[in-house]
Amino acid sequence: MSTYTAVAHTNIALIKYWGKKDPQLIIPYNSSLSLTLDQFYTKTTVTPATTDQFTLDAQPITGPGLTKMTAFLDILRAYAKTDQKLAVTSTNHVPTAAGLASSASGLAALTVAATAALGLNLPKQTLSRLARRGSGSACRSIYGGFVEWQKGQTDEDSYGVPLNPAETTDLDIAMIALVISDTAKTVSSRQGMANTVATSPFYPAFVQRCEADLTAIKAAIAAKDLQQVGEIAEANALKMHATMLAATPPFSYFLPETLQAIAAIQQLRTQGYLCYFTMDAGPNIKIICAASQSQRIAQALKKLLPKVAMVIAKPGPGAKLI
Ligand code: PMV
Repeated sequence: MSTYTAVAHTNIALIKYWGKKDPQLIIPYNSSLSLTLDQFYTKTTVTPATTDQFTLDAQPITGPGLTKMTAFLDILRAYAKTDQKLAVTSTNHVPTAAGLASSASGLAALTVAATAALGLNLPKQTLSRLARRGSGSACRSIYGGFVEWQKGQTDEDSYGVPLNPAETTDLDIAMIALVISDTAKTVSSRQGMANTVATSPFYPAFVQRCEADLTAIKAAIAAKDLQQVGEIAEANALKMHATMLAATPPFSYFLPETLQAIAAIQQLRTQGYLCYFTMDAGPNIKIICAASQSQRIAQALKKLLPKVAMVIAKPGPGAKLI
């Protein structure tokens, strides 16, 4: 047992995961599909230690943060059949105030580094299953490019599968992250999902539509039809957000600035720019566009949204030991 360092990149879902069928094992109600991005990643070093320790962005973490980490390490230890404690040091490499969640890259990097430090040498499918237990979306960050999280039925068959095993994509695609707000969200994705599943009458319709959206977007990706990809992804994200408005109590991640950004994107579309948006459990918007047009689109958008910071990201690689 020795020290290992891993890097994992974040991913953004085009077909959303929103709701756990099994909250303990994190088995989702529907399959989802994401793009791993090159600009945002977490680097994590894990060393055998006498007690579990966690340092995040140079800050020692105690209390609930450490408890959560220990609970996840317990899952990895049970798998490795050891009680070895670990010291974890993580750094999030997200451009200043990008307002992007780092749980997917964080839990994927941790899974890769910690399993190695516990003496395991696991296939990616197993790494993806284990990462899922930390944060659902982390199972997709084990791979690069487009990744489908096949929902499965059990712990054994719920994991990420890359659309293209070479982890590359032939599609000319980029995402522009718009920083609407970097303040912490009021409703965590865990809480939000549980509330939606339990109370939203729109939830069954969302789950049902996700299956059709997933089939359609995979066909659009294969056909290199970016417009179709954008249309399907944007509509899927809006369906997810609609489930929340119909929950009891209702909640929403939209800020006034989020709606302004959406209006600006719609305006660019009327001017002939090919750009669509997606949005997760926070007010920030990610634009889906061609990589070859991303600079032009960002410039045009800057005129409409002068105060909004933008980061252009391209498809990124899967998690690995370095
Ligand atoms: O994996 P979590 O618990 O951070 O949930 C992610 C949920 C969304 O980002 C809203 C959608 C998704 O598929 O990533």
